[in-house]
Amino acid sequence: MAKYKIAWLPGDGIGIEVMEAAKIVLDALKFDAEYIHGDIGWEFWCKEGEAFPQRTIDLLGKVNAAMFGAITSKPVKAAEKELDASLQGKGMVYRSPIVRMRQLFDLYICLRPCKAYPGNPINYKEGIDLVVFRENTEDLYAGVEFNPVPQEVRDCLLKNAKGFAAFKDVALDQYAITCKINTRKGSERIIRAAFEHAKKFDYPKVTVIHKANVVRATEGLFLDIGKEVAKDYPGIQMDDANIDAICMWLLKNPKNYSVLVATNMFGDIVSDLCAQMVGGLGFGCSGNIGDKLAVFEPTHGSAPKYAGMYKTNPIATILAAKMMLDWLGEKAMGDKIEKAVAAVIADGKVRTYDMGGEAKTLEMGEAVAKRL
Ligand code: NAI
Ligand code: MG
Repeated sequence: MAKYKIAWLPGDGIGIEVMEAAKIVLDALKFDAEYIHGDIGWEFWCKEGEAFPQRTIDLLGKVNAAMFGAITSKPVKAAEKELDASLQGKGMVYRSPIVRMRQLFDLYICLRPCKAYPGNPINYKEGIDLVVFRENTEDLYAGVEFNPVPQEVRDCLLKNAKGFAAFKDVALDQYAITCKINTRKGSERIIRAAFEHAKKFDYPKVTVIHKANVVRATEGLFLDIGKEVAKDYPGIQMDDANIDAICMWLLKNPKNYSVLVATNMFGDIVSDLCAQMVGGLGFGCSGNIGDKLAVFEPTHGSAPKYAGMYKTNPIATILAAKMMLDWLGEKAMGDKIEKAVAAVIADGKVRTYDMGGEAKTLEMGEAVAKRL
């Protein structure tokens, strides 16, 4: 019997292609795993009215970890039009599989390392080594939304609104509400994870990102907890910055920062900014980590315009596989992958289109496998 059971969820479009390349690398490493395919993505929404079928949820309950490619998603109304005729009009609502997966399995840490590997021609600056911790289950993604707004919700808000209420004279179907919900528990565990990471990997500083001056209740709570948690880590410097200011400071002087932690939406935004500084979506890897399960993926989507062409960069997915090995405790193997990726980038002989080359997705996988 294999040492690990890994759910293998390629999904849609280039998700399938970059996962094939990552598999070449894992096989070359002789990683002792049984890979179990899981259905997920657009095809299953159209055929079954569920992009994340129950059988795949059950599979995730039985594995040590999962690798996920990418899925195609569309807004609710556009999605409904593409449902199989037999399912039309049955009230099925498209839900994002990845957001659901994070919430169902309480994958509360979204870990996104962004490292500028020397020699990558699309690095913004050399020497960047940033790690983003994004809260992954609550905030604006909590799923509490109203459009149109029910009368009782409006009444409650008006009763509690202090001063200016922009929606006061607006009809119920003329505005929408998305609730930003941040708990003490959710905030504390992501901030603590960021400090633990800094301690373990010797990073000097944790920057708590927020907008506490304006979004006072939720972002204020996040900043307060940041200050509390920092007291438990006297060896690590804690600083804080507003989300808008940090976007500017990161571009100006990325080497001033190391570990960044933010609520869900701000973390999503800042992690794309950081990924772009180290080569863009072809390099952005991500781990959705809970106490019992973790799901690793590239941060990019299914890139429909490149689907079937096998030309996009699989490095993000290969680095996601490295993160999975680290999380499983197979650090020696994880290190081997990272060294091989760094060597291929430094050689500069095999480059996909985003790096200015012509190598295909699987050639990149093979090049990394050869350098292991
Ligand atoms: P995308 O990330 O799929 O692609 C945007 C562009 O980035 C591509 O056209 C390409 O130029 C570049 N790109 C992406 N991955 C690359 C790679 N590995 N190598 C080189 N270049 C790469 O974002 P887009 O086009 O906005 O969304 C396409 C679909 O993916 C949508 O249905 C969207 O909802 C979905 N999506 C899914 C995600 C997921 O599965 N986690 C995340 C983001 C988007
Ligand atoms: Mg994103």
